[in-house]
Amino acid sequence: MSSSFPTTRLRRLRYHPAVRRLVRETNLSPSQMILPLFVRTGRGVRQEISSMPGNFQLSLDLLPDEIRQAADLGLGGVLLFGIPAEKDPLGSDATSENGIIPQAVRVAKDTAPDLLVVTDVCFCEYTDHGHCGALADRSGRVDVDNDATLEMLARQAATHAKAGADVVAPSGMMDGMVGAIRRGLDSAGFLHVPIMSYAAKYASAFYGPFREAAESAPQFGDRRSYQMDPASAAGQAIREVELDLAEGADIVMVKPALPYLDILCRIRQQFPGVPLAAYNVSGEFSMLKAAARQGWLDEKAVALESLTAIRRAGADILITYWAKDVVRWLA
Ligand code: PBG
Repeated sequence: MSSSFPTTRLRRLRYHPAVRRLVRETNLSPSQMILPLFVRTGRGVRQEISSMPGNFQLSLDLLPDEIRQAADLGLGGVLLFGIPAEKDPLGSDATSENGIIPQAVRVAKDTAPDLLVVTDVCFCEYTDHGHCGALADRSGRVDVDNDATLEMLARQAATHAKAGADVVAPSGMMDGMVGAIRRGLDSAGFLHVPIMSYAAKYASAFYGPFREAAESAPQFGDRRSYQMDPASAAGQAIREVELDLAEGADIVMVKPALPYLDILCRIRQQFPGVPLAAYNVSGEFSMLKAAARQGWLDEKAVALESLTAIRRAGADILITYWAKDVVRWLA
């Protein structure tokens, strides 16, 4: 059955470019790509994020142009993050029908009704302390109050759905968040709105540039009591996914992507048939961008190779700041 050299020569599959294409099983296509966008109040604001060149905080009047580009390029969708005018301890902008995200969703839907709009469901951009929910002092240690936050998340998600969001994406790593959001959506009549859960989200230093973009750095402490420990066993990620699916998640996500390809691969194998997303996060983008700017790496080549690797590890959906570039590069 098995043969060896010289009968077998694996290079035969590599000599001809067309043969390489024929036996290639991992592809990148525009419809798999979701572009994160940062929206804020004000007019005429197009503020470049210094640590993420080519990405901007945009005011709502400048959003239509970005939405049209995403639609024209055939992207799978956009993922909206909001920077509110006012922050407070409970992040009240996040649950207001006139908050930054409901307004942005309405603009996006008016501009390109067929473009998929996904919204981030979390409180860190909205609270003045920068944590992902309401705080409570339990035994002398201030931390996010899990169960108090669930009800807030359910309201936030329903508010987004009411504004026209097609998919909601909870990213706060609260226990029970998917179930609470599912019940909140269902009781508000949004039975058809899927939940893309950040199921296995690690407490990663690769989120650094994002926190500049979303102005969401925690004002004290860190997120290690809710986001996963990078050193934890892969089995813990599997349990997170299992629980989220049991609570009604439609799509599950691993985040970050590149340093966690093992986790992606394990989840792909354990849950065949479950749509799997990977978030190629801000730090993954910035480090390659910075090296490319130095002339040390070829941006197009390393970005395409990274995204291909994330697909090969098992991701169906890629959330990436390169989404628009990828479509242009592939054209
Ligand atoms: C939380 C959230 C974060 C990211 C997406 N959603 C940041 C965090 O957990 O601190 C990070 C994305 C990135 O780094 O690109 N709402």
